[in-house]
Amino acid sequence: MKVLVTGATGFIGANVVRHLLARGDQVRCLVRKPNALLDGLDVELSTAPLVPREPSELAELLAAVDGCEGIFHIAGVYENGPAARRKMRDVHVYGTRALCDVAVRAGVRRLVLCSSSVTVGFGSRDAPGDEDTPLDPTPVYGSTGPLRWYYDTKFQAEELATGWGGVEVVVVNPDFVVGAFDIKPTSGQLILTMARHWLPVYPLGGKCFIDADDCAVAHLAAMDRGLPGRRYLLGNENLSYREMMGLVAQVVGRRPPILPLSTAALRVGAAGLDLLAALKPHGAERPDRRVLLSMQEARYRSGARARRELGMPATPLRDSIDKAYRWFCDQGYC
Ligand SMILES: NC(=O)c1ccc[n+]([C@@H]2O[C@H](COP(=O)([O-])OP(=O)(O)OC[C@H]3O[C@@H](n4cnc5c(N)ncnc54)[C@H](OP(=O)(O)O)[C@@H]3O)[C@@H](O)[C@H]2O)c1
Repeated sequence: MKVLVTGATGFIGANVVRHLLARGDQVRCLVRKPNALLDGLDVELSTAPLVPREPSELAELLAAVDGCEGIFHIAGVYENGPAARRKMRDVHVYGTRALCDVAVRAGVRRLVLCSSSVTVGFGSRDAPGDEDTPLDPTPVYGSTGPLRWYYDTKFQAEELATGWGGVEVVVVNPDFVVGAFDIKPTSGQLILTMARHWLPVYPLGGKCFIDADDCAVAHLAAMDRGLPGRRYLLGNENLSYREMMGLVAQVVGRRPPILPLSTAALRVGAAGLDLLAALKPHGAERPDRRVLLSMQEARYRSGARARRELGMPATPLRDSIDKAYRWFCDQGYC
């Protein structure tokens, strides 16, 4: 099968591409600029723009999907810089719209859209949320700011793609992904920070974690046998940050964190960061206060549907952390 993959120079895309190649699929990667993750791989490259602005660019994107039976739209952005809102809207909403458009024109059978767990409701560890759990975004992500824009653009992309018609769309919603090839790094930043120095504090909340290989396997299965229009939360172990950081500490050979992070202290710290940013508005990206505060909350979700319908494996998180750490060390990050 021949497929187009966006986001192949990123963490999840790199894992998906390797699984596709391993089973003998022909892979074309739509990239802005190739990077080391693509070195030595037997893939075709296209530098067509994901968001065409003029007819010639649309023709380039159409050529990029030509002959493909499937598209994996994995490219994505999360940042809190000055252009964050525009970038997220471009890649998530306009990029999805452009890919649906060319998919129909080129007769592509199916598009797998990599969204995020941010659009899926959550619950407690005993009663985790799933794809049908309602989510009111304002109390959770606020009414504006990067986290809210991320939610909005991912939600809009899902709505737009599943309602498009003429191409089958399956949505996958990864939670906190851990594994190799996290080149930026994204979720692996916590592992790297803990590898570099002892972190004494842990946030009070928790998350649903998923191995990067398992996440990739689920992407391929969504292409093969996911139900069109359906969403699949990709998550395995629900762990508190304290438990997760305990596992990281074992793998990287450091002491686990011992002090719970006080929400009051975090609010004061976040307010200080906001003040600094206000005084120096064009400065470097600062930690997003809502992301920091969200780590104080337990947001547990279930990947039961993906395990049941897509055969998503359930690799223990410790093994995923080990893969991530070994990759970071091999690449000289440690
Ligand atoms: N990592 C997680 O834990 C996690 C969890 C839930 C959902 N997700 C979602 O999974 C997807 C992949 O995330 P990731 O962790 O692999 O992130 P990543 O490592 O930052 O990779 C992002 C990818 O998107 C590409 N991209 C960004 N803007 C683009 C544009 N304007 N045109 C074309 N390509 C563009 C990047 O290309 P460049 O190399 O050119 O920048 C890169 O290949 C995203 O949609 C993200 O929202 C990730």
